[in-house]
Amino acid sequence: MGKKITQKPRGTKDIWGEDQKYFKYVQNVFETVAEEAGFGKIETPAFEDTKLFERGVGKETDVGKEMYTFKDKSGNSLTLRPEGTAPVVRAYLENGMQSQPQPVNLYYFSNFFRYERPQAGRYREFWQLGLEVIGDKSPLVDANIIATVSRIYKKLNIKNISIQINSMGCAICRPKYIKILKKYYSGNLNKLCPDCKKRYKTNPLRLLDCKNEKCVVLQAEAPQLINNLCSACHDHFKTVLEYIDELEINYDLNPKIVRGLDYYTGTVFEVWNEKDGAQSSLGGGGRYDGLVELLGGSKTPAVGFGGGVERTMEEMEREGVEFVEKKNVNIFVAQLGSKARKKCFKLLNDLLDAGIGAEARFDKGGIGEQLKVASKLGVEYTLLIGQREAFDGTVIIKDMASGNQEVFPYEKVVKVMTKRLNKPE
Ligand code: HAM
Repeated sequence: MGKKITQKPRGTKDIWGEDQKYFKYVQNVFETVAEEAGFGKIETPAFEDTKLFERGVGKETDVGKEMYTFKDKSGNSLTLRPEGTAPVVRAYLENGMQSQPQPVNLYYFSNFFRYERPQAGRYREFWQLGLEVIGDKSPLVDANIIATVSRIYKKLNIKNISIQINSMGCAICRPKYIKILKKYYSGNLNKLCPDCKKRYKTNPLRLLDCKNEKCVVLQAEAPQLINNLCSACHDHFKTVLEYIDELEINYDLNPKIVRGLDYYTGTVFEVWNEKDGAQSSLGGGGRYDGLVELLGGSKTPAVGFGGGVERTMEEMEREGVEFVEKKNVNIFVAQLGSKARKKCFKLLNDLLDAGIGAEARFDKGGIGEQLKVASKLGVEYTLLIGQREAFDGTVIIKDMASGNQEVFPYEKVVKVMTKRLNKPE
């Protein structure tokens, strides 16, 4: 039997009600931090030419194997974006951002798609908050991205996180290291899990972050890239750490951080929550100095970060983070009797026209019932029109906190409320 049409696809979700409050809050905090640090927002299409991702993230990477790829009616192969870095680099090149002052600092808050096995914190459509700095090779930029990321979680009041840092080397030292690594594993191939046997051939660095128990044992003795960096990578990484130290940001050096995408070079890092660690990282990022060139541009260094929004929301709920929601509705309009209802309908719309958030419940007749709704909404004022006020052309303004009531002529009410709520006139 097929699924009901009232059932959403596996691994997707509706974000509404209580979840939407967290979602909006995370977006707000993130976008404020990003804008204050001089990042500009970018929206890229939800799907791109498949080749962009095949080349950008790599066909053999975990992400490359999880792509939603389809042919459109003209036979073009398209892919729902599995991540944001390759599209941002594509947009950088296509829109001539190379000729703007460098670096170009961009941020996004977008949905992404990966055909993964759904489980807690792992969805087929999920949201990421992302930062990309393109066109600056300085280690200070790496440190600054890490500082910005740390600030985002701090402003969200998330406490139980750790930042895991590593360096993946460059086109000079990484291939040399991979040879050393393969040599170490070549004598132990029969001890590896079936996936790692494949990884040995296709993506040996991922041998280092396999979670299988047998593989973890072998990882403990494996040679580390950090001890095999060339002098340029070593110096760069040392400077990044010195600058993060300067800001007293806590981090752990972790040789197992190798990331699941092909484009990384040099500094890489992940944000973990203390409970799940590597199982369900809150976010990850790093340098990708080769990607612009790989996608057809000139050699351009870059660094960025992507954070999972659902995992951030789940961590906030787990830690019981409280936050004050921005209130948009300040007034409830209550009515008694049919003449008053018409006046209230007009008053409600006059308030909204003036930019004052207001609600009413025209299906409810009793004042008591309406006042209950007003207190549930947590409004600051209730404006009341009963039969007498409808006849007089007046409105009662009830201050919900003190319970005080005052009567004003209808024509003055919008002005009075604008002043009381400190709205621009
Ligand atoms: P990523 O590590 O693949 O990196 O994803 C970043 C974050 O997105 C993860 O740490 C996780 O929180 C969240 N995430 C990934 N997949 C899922 C999923 N299936 N369900 C829920 N959340 C998920 C990137 O995507 C890079 N583009 C980050 C980057 C930007 N690097 C440089 N610039």
